[in-house]
Amino acid sequence: MKKTIIAILAMPLLAFSGAALAGDAEAGAAKAEALYCGDCHAADDFQGMSLEEITAALQRVLEGEHPPGAEDMTAEDIPDLAAYYFAGGQ
Ligand code: HEC
Repeated sequence: MKKTIIAILAMPLLAFSGAALAGDAEAGAAKAEALYCGDCHAADDFQGMSLEEITAALQRVLEGEHPPGAEDMTAEDIPDLAAYYFAGGQ
């Protein structure tokens, strides 16, 4: 009973954080072009990865674990780029 109440109380919180994290694939496509990601990466480069895995990979790019070419990407670009690559080639 207690667990059920906690689950019900937590639901709006989860829904809210989900919405806040959700990126826009179309905006991501525009950013991938503007930031020249598309020069080296195809839209389906990250196919088979979950949204969380792609987000983590983009986070690593931001932390400098990327060959030269992705310096102009910022943290704000990550949700949209992740949505774009998650939708990859579809
Ligand atoms: C000059 C070519 C080039 C450009 C431009 C480029 N990348 Fe990459 N990227 C690479 C190479 C090479 C790798 C490493 C090999 C691989 O995983 O394909 C890589 C790896 C990655 C990875 C995997 C990182 C990991 O740790 O798993 C991501 C995500 C990524 N790039 C995203 C981007 C984004 C977003 C942009 C645009 C802001 C971008 N790349 C621009 C060449 C490029």
